Amino acid sequence: MPTKLYSSIFPSIFFLSLIFLFLYSTFLPLYTNNDSSSLPTNKFLPSSSPPCNLFKGHWVFNSTKGKPFYDDTCPFHRNAWNCLKNKRDNMGIINSWKWVPKDCKLERVDPWRFLGLMRNRNIGFVGDSLNENFLVSFLCILRVADEGAKKWKKKGAWRGAYFPKYNVTVAYHRAVLLAKYKWNPKQSVVSDEDELKGIYRVDVDILADEWSSIADFYHVLVFNTGHWWGYDKFPKETPLVFYRHGRPISPPLGLLDGFKVVLENMVHHIQKEVPKNTLKFWRLQSPRHFYGGDWNENGSCLFDRPLEEEQLDLWFDPSNNGVNKEARTLNHLIKEAVQGTDIQLLDLTYLSEFRADAHPAIWLGKKDAVSIWGQDCMHWCLPGLPDTWVDVLVQLIHNSFETG
Ligand SMILES: *[C@@H]1O[C@H](CO)[C@@H](O)[C@H](O)[C@H]1NC(C)=O
Ligand SMILES: *[C@@H]1O[C@H](CO)[C@@H](O)[C@H](O)[C@H]1NC(C)=O
Ligand SMILES: *[C@@H]1O[C@H](CO)[C@@H](O)[C@H](O)[C@H]1NC(C)=O
Repeated sequence: MPTKLYSSIFPSIFFLSLIFLFLYSTFLPLYTNNDSSSLPTNKFLPSSSPPCNLFKGHWVFNSTKGKPFYDDTCPFHRNAWNCLKNKRDNMGIINSWKWVPKDCKLERVDPWRFLGLMRNRNIGFVGDSLNENFLVSFLCILRVADEGAKKWKKKGAWRGAYFPKYNVTVAYHRAVLLAKYKWNPKQSVVSDEDELKGIYRVDVDILADEWSSIADFYHVLVFNTGHWWGYDKFPKETPLVFYRHGRPISPPLGLLDGFKVVLENMVHHIQKEVPKNTLKFWRLQSPRHFYGGDWNENGSCLFDRPLEEEQLDLWFDPSNNGVNKEARTLNHLIKEAVQGTDIQLLDLTYLSEFRADAHPAIWLGKKDAVSIWGQDCMHWCLPGLPDTWVDVLVQLIHNSFETG
């Protein structure tokens, strides 16, 4: 079987090319003449040069850009995102697109070099399943450099791995709203007209337990929240009700105002409690690509290529009122909350907006999943787009720890 062949030959070919790349990048500066000082990549420039913007650019089709680091056998996969196993169409094509930033170079992650940099340090993801999607890609890539990687679920982690060769832990803490929230069923049985079944109490000033005691453990933290802040997760009969200092906030806050207040409180907490030298990122929204209706209205994403740049506003600009408009709306509020802090924005929204072609769609690995849940046009196939997220995050971590 070609995949067998591929998985046995691939590591050695890959290792050789990495050695080559390493030698190449180490000695290249020696062989270039003085003009090399004007090279546009910041790799050879002194650390005082401003880091380039990796978030603006375009996708280029490149079938020789190199195979993904992992396949369907990675032990950290989640079934529904394991698109190779679920025989999704187009996986080769999905992984042939390469993100090319406008004014600088995005390096492909080098798992050996990166884990070497991270030796004795830990990376934590906190947020919703889109951060888990990100984590799974990260674990499968890093495992290439340490096949002894073991599953790790301590300290409130939902999923993670320990890389013994490097003494590095990378894990995800599931805290979908970041703040603590709890189901409170309706107390009285007196029937009223509003059909309220109960509320989800959100304490805007209390962290979800899952990440309340991890501040000293991680050296890099990546936060996100956003995908649960909708009326499909919390409809009128079971709404979010926001509390502060243990009392309901009055007048009650709507969903977006609640989001804002929670963000402010979480950012404030991170500034106060997480050590200064911990590298902090806030990942902006991962866009959804439901076409022709929302997830529960037969919305679909059976695209075989990325969107064109001209199409993006039509899909995502809130003024066009499309079904996927929430990503940019929430980003606006997140940027406001994070402004002026030492939390770096990981603005993966724009580059991801193009990738209508890269979701699991109907290939979910379970027979009835599509008829029950609809297509998945929200999470991403693995291998796939989150591998590019990893490249971006890793380059930013390198920039910070090496110049830092
Ligand atoms: C495709 O990727 C390879 C490997 O990164 C690179 O050498 C080549 O120049 C790329 N081709 C194009 C058309 O960008
Ligand atoms: C592993 O890393 C942790 C920090 O994350 C450190 O406290 C510990 O001493 C390290 N262990 C070894 C054996 O170096
Ligand atoms: C979705 O498709 C099914 C099957 O074709 C159909 O019965 C249903 O009415 C559709 N729902 C919507 C909201 O369009």
